[in-house]
Amino acid sequence: MHSAIGLRWLLVRRCRALVSGTARAASTAAPSGRRRLPADGPGLAEFVAGSAAPAAPPPEGAELPVPLGATELEHGLGRRVLFVVHGCQMNVNDTEVAWAVLQQAGYQRAENISEADVVFIMTCSIREGAETKIWNKLENYKRLKASKGYTGSQFKVGVLGCMAERLRQRLVEADVGVDLVAGPDSYRHLPRLLAQPEDAGAAVHVQLSLEETYADVQPVRLDPHAPAAYVTIMRGCDNMCTYCIVPFTRGRERSRPLDSVVEEVRRLSEQGVREVTLLGQNVNSYRDMSGSRNSAKATRLAAGFSTVYRPKTGGTRFADLLSAVADVDPEMRVRFTSPHPKDFPDEVLRVIAERPNVCSCLHLPAQSGSSRVLADMRRGYTREAYLELVRHVRRMVPGVALTSDFIAGFCGETEADFEETLSLMREVGYQYCFLFAYSRREKTRAHHRLVDDVPPAEKQRRVAEMARLYRAMAQQLNTRQVGSTQLVLLERPSPRSPDSLLGRNDANVKVIVPRRWAGAPLAAGQYVAVEVTGASSEVLHGRPLERTTLQEFARQHDPPSAPNELLGDDPEASQCVV
Ligand code: 5AD
Ligand code: SF4
Repeated sequence: MHSAIGLRWLLVRRCRALVSGTARAASTAAPSGRRRLPADGPGLAEFVAGSAAPAAPPPEGAELPVPLGATELEHGLGRRVLFVVHGCQMNVNDTEVAWAVLQQAGYQRAENISEADVVFIMTCSIREGAETKIWNKLENYKRLKASKGYTGSQFKVGVLGCMAERLRQRLVEADVGVDLVAGPDSYRHLPRLLAQPEDAGAAVHVQLSLEETYADVQPVRLDPHAPAAYVTIMRGCDNMCTYCIVPFTRGRERSRPLDSVVEEVRRLSEQGVREVTLLGQNVNSYRDMSGSRNSAKATRLAAGFSTVYRPKTGGTRFADLLSAVADVDPEMRVRFTSPHPKDFPDEVLRVIAERPNVCSCLHLPAQSGSSRVLADMRRGYTREAYLELVRHVRRMVPGVALTSDFIAGFCGETEADFEETLSLMREVGYQYCFLFAYSRREKTRAHHRLVDDVPPAEKQRRVAEMARLYRAMAQQLNTRQVGSTQLVLLERPSPRSPDSLLGRNDANVKVIVPRRWAGAPLAAGQYVAVEVTGASSEVLHGRPLERTTLQEFARQHDPPSAPNELLGDDPEASQCVV
């Protein structure tokens, strides 16, 4: 079932990976005998100072992971774990890493709460609303524990991920029945933390690492039958946008060695996976410093873009990784998220344009259309530089679909600033937008230095207005697709209609097709050439033309020539009608 020796080796190997943040393992006893908890969240200086420095060896006194002993392994046997995942795709993949570690220690998966001995909530801290949901969930579990009369060893509640990192102390002290707290770099420790005796209090491990990439942990997929999978290629963020908590919860940027990424993609391909999404907080800032392919070249940022950190040099860059991943299996689609607009040199755009299996769909999170607000956010670009990048991307990758994130009501955002955001949205014409009301996060620069002066109702009004605009644009873009032939990868039954399947086109737009075609059922994981017959702002409807392969489709069809844009280069050409 599991190999104690293998796991022991795994944990010993990672000893070097753990270096100190301000956080220390909480479960160590202070000299007074009282448990010492790390203060909530690491500090700003920890991430800014020497941000271009290579990973350091562990300082003296840094806590090292204890190899699993008989107690930990015995503890896992027969126990069932339920995962409840909140937040981004990174959290889904992190859950798969945590699950891999626990499975090796003998744990089994619970399908629902009634059969669970342990429930782990993978958490998100990005906005207050995300955290509120998790506090409510914890209250529910606490009530459940009380109603069933469970002791701590019968039913444990663990908080994993960003909120664990940010609120470690509050989670333990809040009396919401939390037994375990583990941050994003602490999943190797889960078996040990779970085996900790009940009377030692909550088990806490929240030390951030400069090296941890879980490169040697094979994630176990939560849905092993899905034709699409995630592969994390880098972790952390060095950008320090003034609104964002991520650098504090996920730590500094570090990339996984290229060979280990390629190996995992190869394994997924052998398992029949047809689409991989490469993941990272700044996925295109990928830089593998581990291997022989290191180049001395400094990073070339997109024109008009800057960073808060010193230029980084050396390492294998994202374009090389993307190309190597695309080579693994020409029948496997490759996507990536979430990138930062600064890291789109021409090498990356060329790989996207030239490889039929790298999807022509780019997430370019703009956040705002006002240069003044962008400066306050420390995004490192102006509205003009962003729009120039969009034009450049469209020249190099004709037909590319663009998506974005926007924040409404950031500190000091005036109505005029907001109008600039709406006009940027119109000018670009996004296929999809993620829209957020600004949420003030402790420890960020905006929290310290700027005033959160847009009233909540006004933030909501602005989000609603952006949503109206975005939906109208998406409707327009999708309607233009009617009559075209597109390659669709079928994913799963349509949640709305049992007689239909849901798939996605190259631009990642959902496409609904009939389940039966030419007298036989279609299946998840198949590529189908589809004629688009109808469109709403969210989905396309289509008629299957033939079962096909990615390469066959690429040979027969030119890449989309009608650009997925509303205005193109000429702002006068075609206004979005909303
Ligand atoms: N408030 C609102 N939205 C935020 N985001 C990040 N931090 C905040 C915040 N404090 C949004 C950004 C980012 C996306 C993942 O979440 O748009 O790109
Ligand atoms: Fe949320 Fe960001 Fe953490 Fe993902 S990385 S879970 S979006 S705070």
